[in-house]
Amino acid sequence: MDALAPEVLRCFRAIPMSIVRLEHVFKDYTLGEQKVQALKDISLNIEGGAFAAIAGPSGSGKSTLLNLIGCIDTPLAGKIFIDGHDTGGRTPDELADLRARTIGFIFQTFNLFPVLSAEENVEYPLLQLKEVGAAERRDRVSKYLAIVGLSRFARHRPNQLSGGQRQRVAIARALATQPKIILADEPTANLDHKTGEGILQLMKQINSNFKTTFVFSTHDARVMEMADWLVRIEDGQITGESAREQGRLDDHPYNSVQVGGSDRSETDGAQA
Ligand SMILES: Nc1ncnc2c1ncn2[C@@H]1O[C@H](COP(=O)(O)OP(=O)(O)OP(=O)(O)O)[C@@H](O)[C@H]1O
Ligand SMILES: [Mg+2]
Repeated sequence: MDALAPEVLRCFRAIPMSIVRLEHVFKDYTLGEQKVQALKDISLNIEGGAFAAIAGPSGSGKSTLLNLIGCIDTPLAGKIFIDGHDTGGRTPDELADLRARTIGFIFQTFNLFPVLSAEENVEYPLLQLKEVGAAERRDRVSKYLAIVGLSRFARHRPNQLSGGQRQRVAIARALATQPKIILADEPTANLDHKTGEGILQLMKQINSNFKTTFVFSTHDARVMEMADWLVRIEDGQITGESAREQGRLDDHPYNSVQVGGSDRSETDGAQA
């Protein structure tokens, strides 16, 4: 078969690709005799490069949905495609490998190792990637700590950092493996409003510069406003989806773009 002409290839590249696709996904939890239907027939497409929020009241299924997208848990029924890969019928090891290479996580409570320094926390997920050697690990740790504005705090342990700084370490750790998708479950819930806004702005800058897809959950109307794609969920069902702007890209060149952030952040209330 003849090779496709460059202008035809460009045409294909311009079509936004779903990096996350769910088809008729159901998830139940069983607690003793009681069955909770946490997700009921969820179908969802998130395009590569999106800055997407999942919004809904407490208990609506946001964390459950993020855990399924993150291959931390598996659905009762339905299909989940991550970066074009069908996650169905895979072994736990295969799912762990897909997760390690494709997805970064940011949690509400930061989930840093308390005995490790900021730089060791950022290095940790890289130890799972055999192809990343020691020199490359060091480069990435210093690059991503710089991007979140924490180079000066590399040797600090989590308890020697403010909440905003801890979340910045968690963002650097999520970026270190250069994932296509970063999932964040209420990343600002444990931060005051101003600090939370700074964290969201940093995530948005990373999204713009690296084209990393972000999917984050929130209750906070001000956080929802920063999303370019908003998915509303109630009682385990999607009740609405809306786009805020167009023009997302589907590639994710982790180049040398400096996102900014400074060691003397005014948004994280740091007193380290
Ligand atoms: N491990 C579990 N065992 C049993 N039920 C669970 C479990 N995890 C979640 N649920 C139930 O599933 C439903 C959805 O929970 P989920 O944690 O996804 O909600 P959420 O939208 O993240 O809420 P929040 O905003 O409070 O974090 C709730 O009814 C919850 O009680
Ligand atoms: Mg939750």
